[in-house]
Amino acid sequence: MDISKLAAPGTPKANLIYHEDPQILHVNTLAKHCYFIPFAPDQSNSAREDSERLELLNGEWDFRYYDSAIDLEDDFTALPGAVKMPVPSNWQLHGFDRPQYTNINYPIPFDPPYVPDDDPAGVYSREYDYKPDGLRRILVFEGIDSCVYLFVNGKFAGYSQVSHSISEFDVTDLLHACANKITALVLKWCDGTYLEDQDKFRLSGIFRDVYMLSRPEKRLEDYRIKTELSDDMTSAKLIFRPSGIAVKCELYDHAGNVAAEFSAEENEGASIGITAPRLWTAETPELYLLKITAGDEVIYEQVGFRKAAVENGVVKINGRPVKFKGVNRHDSYPDTGYYASVRQMEHDLLLMKRNNINAVRTSHYPNAPEFYRLCDRLGLYVIDEADMESHGCVSVYNDLKWTRGYDGIALLASDKMFEKAITDRAESLVKRDINRPCVVFWSLGNESGWGTNMRAAGELVKSLDDTRLLHYESTHKLDDTPDDILDLVSEMYTSPEDMRKFLENEQERRPFILCEYCHAMGNGPGDLEDYHNTFYLHERFCGGFVWEWADHAFPQGTTADGRVKYGYGGDFGEAHHDGNFCMDALNYPDRTPHTGLLEVKQVYRPIRVYRGENGGFIFRSTLEFADAGELLDCLWEITADGVITAQGSLEFSLLPMGSTVIEIPEAEKIPGGEVYIRFIFTARKAQPWCGAGYEVCFDQLKLSESEREIPALSQEPVRITDEPLEITVESAGTRFVFSKRRSAFTSISASGKELLDRPLEFNFFRAPTDNDVMKNDWYALHLNELRARNYGVSVKDCGNCAEITLRQSMSWFTDKPVVFMDVIYIISAGRLDIRTHATFSDKVGFLPRFGVRMFMPRVFSEVEYFGYGPNESYIDKHQSCRAGKFSDDIGRMHEDYIRPQENSSHFGCRYMQISDGETTVRFTSGSEFSFNASEYTQEELAGKRHNYELEKSGSSVICIDSKMAGVGSNSCGPTLAEKYRVPLPELSADFTIEIKE
Ligand code: GAL
Ligand code: MG
Repeated sequence: MDISKLAAPGTPKANLIYHEDPQILHVNTLAKHCYFIPFAPDQSNSAREDSERLELLNGEWDFRYYDSAIDLEDDFTALPGAVKMPVPSNWQLHGFDRPQYTNINYPIPFDPPYVPDDDPAGVYSREYDYKPDGLRRILVFEGIDSCVYLFVNGKFAGYSQVSHSISEFDVTDLLHACANKITALVLKWCDGTYLEDQDKFRLSGIFRDVYMLSRPEKRLEDYRIKTELSDDMTSAKLIFRPSGIAVKCELYDHAGNVAAEFSAEENEGASIGITAPRLWTAETPELYLLKITAGDEVIYEQVGFRKAAVENGVVKINGRPVKFKGVNRHDSYPDTGYYASVRQMEHDLLLMKRNNINAVRTSHYPNAPEFYRLCDRLGLYVIDEADMESHGCVSVYNDLKWTRGYDGIALLASDKMFEKAITDRAESLVKRDINRPCVVFWSLGNESGWGTNMRAAGELVKSLDDTRLLHYESTHKLDDTPDDILDLVSEMYTSPEDMRKFLENEQERRPFILCEYCHAMGNGPGDLEDYHNTFYLHERFCGGFVWEWADHAFPQGTTADGRVKYGYGGDFGEAHHDGNFCMDALNYPDRTPHTGLLEVKQVYRPIRVYRGENGGFIFRSTLEFADAGELLDCLWEITADGVITAQGSLEFSLLPMGSTVIEIPEAEKIPGGEVYIRFIFTARKAQPWCGAGYEVCFDQLKLSESEREIPALSQEPVRITDEPLEITVESAGTRFVFSKRRSAFTSISASGKELLDRPLEFNFFRAPTDNDVMKNDWYALHLNELRARNYGVSVKDCGNCAEITLRQSMSWFTDKPVVFMDVIYIISAGRLDIRTHATFSDKVGFLPRFGVRMFMPRVFSEVEYFGYGPNESYIDKHQSCRAGKFSDDIGRMHEDYIRPQENSSHFGCRYMQISDGETTVRFTSGSEFSFNASEYTQEELAGKRHNYELEKSGSSVICIDSKMAGVGSNSCGPTLAEKYRVPLPELSADFTIEIKE
């Protein structure tokens, strides 16, 4: 509805004429320019809040909420606030409206440029005390979702949209001395909503900082810093072009010495030569300080000399090929929603650096401007992305059966109605962040398809800046607009095999980047190492960005024991939502790392160690600019059966991307046994992100392996009682009862102590992980509730053991049996050996596991194992683990995914044992196995939507798996690689359970 027509002419409400007009995006805003904060001439370089010229207007604003902008009073600016609302924040997190999580589908009917009549509105207001001093007052909003109508003292002051861009208004002429009233009317939806369909919780309000700048009328409006490097990188040019006013500049080097002094006339460039510049890279974030004196203002800038280019299909920084070890990061915090304070952003970036991450993509919009200064300082390459996504078009364009494919994603990419808006978004991106050395790619946005508007945006970017590379992934299109303007081929979730095929395409010479990969949802990702190896196959692969940094979820109270109850899609009463797809990250919402982040840290490690062909160890660096030996100390330790037998430290020097051979004499004289060497690399010096001694990474190599010995059976005689329904075998105080009726052991006891809470069973099911997208097949086969059918049991007395032989099948009511199994149980004093051969039905395409499950009394809680620990580990996810001997308590062996799922398995085990302090039950197998020890059942984990709903089983549930499928990243990525699956249809396994008192 045209709201302005409902209002009396001349009233504030009558101004609401822009938010459904994509040709008018900003009214009365200042021209776009690079981000900077002016200081008074005598002020030194410090945080922007310290500037005498900046007045932060964050804090409690008066607020009125309306379900629809239609309900606004004609002069809503005259009304007092109904409540206080923190600024910055999102009103959905403060009692108004509700968060809605939607991924691809639009949150509103697709009817551009119109938005629903139910367009929630928030009226923010506050006082502003003005003391006229000859300076203009510029009101700056760093981010408002989705648009703002601004009023000063009830008079219309301007309009702006594009949620993640700066809007600046010179409000001086509307101010009078002393108290003034600033009113910002924020609408939830506007025509920009069609271009902001990012996969996120949909929230509204003034969500970034607000401040008033006091600036002279004639002033520095914009400036461009450009750095050029000579081919041999030994000299550089600093090109500086101011607009608005002439300036004087001083450039200081890292030691605070003046490296250059110059003046630059308005609109004319100064070009200054710098010899032997210290170059900026993510590994060496060398910055110069530029002091710009512009009339009555000074501005402090960070300058980094670096060059980003593509040469022969290879992305190079400062002339060297690089790999981006990146992550995608959204502005999303459980407490502050879209607001990211400098402290929060810094915390994220420090955590990235601590985890060997060197790049970040600002998915899928520009971040707060200070974010990039932090990246400059800490050393992270940035893909800076425009606030642009129209993903919902793909469903809009499709028919109900989705037969029209994916090209409809480009519905708006060539639609003239949105050309101006799409190019405006690219322009805002580049003009604001153009001086940031960390930005090496401009990205046109995400998942909006390709067309003339996107191309126009790309051309605009190139005309504004020829020193960055142009990135964009989404090139599905409805017309023939060429996409050759893009400097790279960018894809998401391509499998390593398909990446290799890319190299075979003779027609394509550009570099290849994975702007998203290793979808880190729930328990995963399991394919980081395979991708890493693929990236290093060829220089044209320049790395990738894991999806994504942090889960999006909001607290909905706490449990009785004080744990946060996180809500995700569907928990807020949304009419439409996408469930838990918003929790797909390397960190929990509060930035507690998932085990996936530990994997990233290890896969992205700066050094890898290999065994030399002729002895010794090869250290190979993946650093591209720094000498790893100068950054890292190395300790090594040799362990035999988990016990340290030798250790030492060593010095090394390792040129960028170089390798060196290290001799460790102790490693060359290994007598045998289960022997490993582990190299631990720690930070030599404190860094902004870690203290000296921080463990950066490790590498573990096996030096020798012991033969797996199956201990001989005891010679104690057994006593067998073979009854119609049960076989009982007793020996030396242990007693085993096998039920023919259930095809299972129903009791195992030692000295009268019962060890089973439930019959011992075969187990083929696991609580589906988010990556187990085939889980419906498991439920269709009823893998979680199969029943045994016994075809005949016999028992043989072998003197010191009893041998029970049977054939059984496992099935559910309706279909043919899922599996036929031949099983031999060998029972001796204190010991049960299980040997089985299974043949699965051709209906079983993917089996999560093949093992046995034992419910033991909960008093059994002390766990010890030799295998991959201490973190959860799987066949494809154990990089962060080492092979070794670990002990733990079962109460702690649970990874608390917000949506419960399979967790805390341990891969590659030689043995696992559990004890109640008196009796120890030990599990081994003829080959390495996986196990879980948990208080929760797989059924419980599978059945509950939230971690806080989980109920303990009351038993210690032990799963011993001869095979446990990998976890992969199939929630959005490729299907699990064959090598990580449980082999089908035939499987053999053996398990030994020993009871020690
Ligand atoms: C990608 C998209 C991301 C996110 C991810 C799934 O297609 O670019 O924004 O939706 O999939 O988690
Ligand atoms: Mg999307």
